[in-house]
Amino acid sequence: MNRNDYDSIIERAITIQKEWRTVPAPKRGEVIRVFGNHLRQDIEKIGTAIMKDAKKIHAEAIGEVQEAIDMCDFAVGLSRQLYGLTIQSERPEHKLQEVYNPLGVVGVITAFNFPCAVWAWNHCIAMVCGNSVVWKGSPKATEVTGRCKWAWDKAISECFFPDEKFKDLLQIVDGDKTEAEWMADDSRINLLSATGSTAMGKALAPRVSARMGKGLYELGGNNGMIVSKHANIDLAVRGIVFGAVGTAGQRCTTLRRLIVHESVYDVLLEKLKSAYSSLPVGDNFKEETLVGPLINQESADRMLSALEQAKAKGYTVHGGEVVEGCTVRPAIVEATEQCDLVKTETFAPILYTMKYQDLDEAIDIHNAVPQGLSSCIFTDNVQEAETFTSAVGSDCGIVNINIGPSGAEIGGAFGGEKDTGGGRESGSDAWKQYMRRSTVTINYGKSLPLAQGIKFGD
Ligand code: UN1
Repeated sequence: MNRNDYDSIIERAITIQKEWRTVPAPKRGEVIRVFGNHLRQDIEKIGTAIMKDAKKIHAEAIGEVQEAIDMCDFAVGLSRQLYGLTIQSERPEHKLQEVYNPLGVVGVITAFNFPCAVWAWNHCIAMVCGNSVVWKGSPKATEVTGRCKWAWDKAISECFFPDEKFKDLLQIVDGDKTEAEWMADDSRINLLSATGSTAMGKALAPRVSARMGKGLYELGGNNGMIVSKHANIDLAVRGIVFGAVGTAGQRCTTLRRLIVHESVYDVLLEKLKSAYSSLPVGDNFKEETLVGPLINQESADRMLSALEQAKAKGYTVHGGEVVEGCTVRPAIVEATEQCDLVKTETFAPILYTMKYQDLDEAIDIHNAVPQGLSSCIFTDNVQEAETFTSAVGSDCGIVNINIGPSGAEIGGAFGGEKDTGGGRESGSDAWKQYMRRSTVTINYGKSLPLAQGIKFGD
């Protein structure tokens, strides 16, 4: 996109936000309610675009649009709950309040793998909070971006026809790295929310910081699962298979590391090998397929190269055969140690397995990676489960018990620590990042006492 067009988009986003910010939040919520209905109507159309662009199977593509619909429902309720505290003042006849006002322009950068839902996490909340959104979707998912924008425009027409100016509350930046850098450098963007690889986040975050901008980053994960000797193994197998091979291993929450108690390792591995060998891998448009192609050849090559490196280290590799083009069978790699290869997020269906003897060791292995997004333990032992969620447990933003690391609901704040970037998108209180908090002190008396009891010329 050329720079002049980009600048016009940002100027328009600023102008239209000035009108939107005066619309009461519950009325803004009403627009999101209508938008949610349009997503419901268009679920198959957007789903098909996700199948084409992101190469997801039908069930997962529809699930992703459902996640966007859920976000609408959440944001409608939220539009009446943008609460601030009232705080007791230390001074007589004074009151302190927290008041939340819109931020302004929110820049959203999303990746190919969740081209609709991750935008919706940001868009729905940003909108009820009174902001405009400038969205750079993935260049690999332009049809999805177009479909989402179309649904938004229809919702605005339904709410405001013949006045359609609020369509521009959502504008699309068509582009890649250069445009992302423009957004990172642009002090007219009050919050930059970026989802993608850690490399992308590390390239953009210093630019945002250099202008003292606000950033919200949801980056790479290298998610682990501990399978204890107290685990229900069949339940774990189900969790592992969906977590490791769902979306062809291309979720930021994909299960990549399996840390298994030595006493159950062999039995678990046998069950996994058998589940993997019967996985329907192939064309994502075929109904029976569970694992579709990787996003492109580059991605498949990266997977194959990681498997070569694993073999060179002497690890046993199960699966990983090329079916055709960039369609590859998911692989299990029996790693004997957590080497650099295992610590690297290869965005493909590779599951590294390791053994442990006691829980402390398992937690150490679990936390000894640069990323900190999602984590889980399978155990029916309450002490183990509680330990995993405690101060000495998982260091991740998402911690699950008897559930795999992926497939989070929108109600909980989503994101993680360390190289994952520290941001939280989606539900819970993530909305506060999309608003400017003012601490307001009101003096309703007739004198002017100073805080900390300071006497100044009295
Ligand atoms: C992502 O891969 O960027 O928890 C998001 C999950 C999905 C979101 C994944 N709800 O797996």
